This record gives sequence, structure tokens and C-alpha cells, in this order.
Amino acid sequence: MIKRYQLTTFALLLTGSILRAQTKVAEFTPGAIWPDDKGVHINAHGGGMLYQKGTYYWYGEHKIEGGAGNRAMVGVHCYSSKDLYNWKDEGIALSVSPDSTNDIAKGCILERPKVVYNKKTKKYVMWFHLELRGQGYKAARAGVATADKAAGPFKFIRSYRPNAGFMPIYPEGTAEADKVNCDKPKDKSEGFFCRDLPGGQMARDMNVFVDDDGKAYHIFSAEENFTLDIAELNDDYTGHTGKFARVYAGHQTEAPAIFKHNGIYYMIGSGTTGWAPNPARWFTAKSIYGPWTYHGNPCVGNAAEITFGGQSTYVLPVEGKKNAFIFMADKWTPKNAIDGRYLWLPVTFKGDDIEINWLDKWNLDVFKK
Ligand code: DGJ
Repeated sequence: MIKRYQLTTFALLLTGSILRAQTKVAEFTPGAIWPDDKGVHINAHGGGMLYQKGTYYWYGEHKIEGGAGNRAMVGVHCYSSKDLYNWKDEGIALSVSPDSTNDIAKGCILERPKVVYNKKTKKYVMWFHLELRGQGYKAARAGVATADKAAGPFKFIRSYRPNAGFMPIYPEGTAEADKVNCDKPKDKSEGFFCRDLPGGQMARDMNVFVDDDGKAYHIFSAEENFTLDIAELNDDYTGHTGKFARVYAGHQTEAPAIFKHNGIYYMIGSGTTGWAPNPARWFTAKSIYGPWTYHGNPCVGNAAEITFGGQSTYVLPVEGKKNAFIFMADKWTPKNAIDGRYLWLPVTFKGDDIEINWLDKWNLDVFKK
């Protein structure tokens, strides 16, 4: 027999959830719970964005309660928005497989999904960092899936370590002594490169960037995270051409995010400290293959030395606004992965330099039209 007070409580809870779901927001509150259109905290961690025909799509790791959420028990979640503040749950865009022998078997590690649209094939292409189920972080593979619609369903194609058998390219004028020589690797990082040359380079934290000319690049932590590779993707974006450059070798950079402004390539990344936050780092280059210049930590103010508690994942150009880029970071909560928060902050330009300052609350008016 359901008692009257139970009905009342249920009705109040339901009303609260509906109200939360229907409450439109018009500002960002970094680190706060961020309800989607159903009133549920957005579940798209280590995410990336796609803008198409007036709609933004947000793809990220779907986490579950507790520590198991650090593994892929569901897949890649997708949300859509017209204003970047209010997000509609579009469901699971790529599901992990119930087949334990599948590369993306339930319980694998599937991180940092990024989706780009290929204008030639009219396909949506998702790349992600894949670790095989039960093997910790040993596999260090890149995985790729495609879809006919932005919100999926995406179909897994394959996973592998990129650029097996290929040597890196170098900026013009690079001295022979500064190039990788696998007969005599100069340091630990080159040693890892040469070890992995036959079977393909390790590929962990990553991003994908499509340049103005439609060429796409996969940027990923390689060589036990000691180096970032910036690798050209083929014309349909589902494979690597073998052309790549090694960036900031020997410094263990993760969570790379690339954007372009006034003809300059920018990259923001992090150090390598597990789920714990560390100082962000930023770079610039005149060519996607470098040379890349390291500039230090772009964050300023309290907790800048730990990137305000977050770790980079994406930098989004805001449509219709000039010089408008949003730095997107994850505030990980590995003990209860599903509670992970999102730190979105505006990138401030000082000439060609950038700065990221903390704001408790802000909106897109901070960017000029
Ligand atoms: C930091 C990476 O950026 C995350 O994607 C994840 O792999 C954790 N390390 C695991 O410790």
C-alpha cells in the first residue's frame, strides 16, 4: 500500500527533476553539476566538440558510478546544443561490445573520443585512445569508428598503433644529429620510438584537428607519453598516411588540444600525473609539423599551477564571435568517475600570447562579436 507521504515525495522529486530539466541556463559555471535536458549531469568526459549547421555536438566518455567508471562500460555519449549552455542528450553514439574478444569489448579503456566530419565522404569519423580489456594501458592504440549521422550510431572499424615503419619528418634545416637515429637513440624517448617503429607508435591521449585546407591530423601522446606525434590522416580520415612529426620530445605531455588563430597553430596540453591535475602547458607553431615553441603554463591566478584542478581536453572556436575560443578541461573524480566536472573557461589573447583565467560564472558576452 503506497502511503500518501510516499506519493507526495515522489511527486516533489519528479517535479524537481522536470523543473531542472526545463530550466534553461545562459551562463557557464565551471566545476558545477551541469544538467542536460533530462536534468541529469552531463556524462561526456575527456570530450571533444563538432560544430555543424548551427548545432554543436559534444562527444565524451560515458562513465558509471564508482571506480569502474574509469573503464568503458557503456561507450561514447553524445549531446547536442544550439547555444553551448543547454545540452540535449542524444544517447550513446558508440557502444562498447558485449563480445569479450572485440577490441572495444565492454570493460576496455576508451578515452578522449574526438569526432570530425569528412566533406568528401560525408562521414562522421571518431578517433579515440583505446586500451584493450584487461591489459591496463599496455596496448596504447588509436581506435576509429564512422557514422552517417553526427549523433551516430558509430560503427567501430579498427584499432592499431599508427605509422608502423615510418620515420618522422623534420622542419627544414634540421641538423642530421638532431634527427632520430635508431642505430644510436640519443635518449629514452628516441629509444621508445625505435622500439615501437616496427609495430607502430604508441597512441594514448589524443585529439584530432582539421585544418583550413581540409587536411586532418591526429595528435597523440607517444613513446610512453614522452613525445607528442602530430600525424596526417588520409583523405577519408580513417587511417594515417605515415607523415608525422615528433613534438616536445622527452617531456611527457598528455591531453593535447590544438586550435588555430590568425594563421598560428596553438596547442594546450598537460603533464603526465595520472588522474591528478598538474600545470597546463601551451605551444605555438607556424606550421602544423612545427617547429613548436613551448611557452609554459597559460593559466593565471589561484590554482593555476594545477590548471584550476582540471586537465585539458579541447579548445573550441565559438561560431559567430571574433577571437573567441573556449578552453575545455575535465576535473576528474576517479573514485566516482561519473561525478567528473567540466571546467570551461575563455581563452584570453594578449597579442599572439594566450592566458586562461578562472571565472566562477561567465557567458559568451565576454567575447566581442
Ligand atoms: C591522464 C589521461 O589524460 C587520462 O585520459 C587517463 O588516461 C588518465 N591519465 C589515467 O590515469
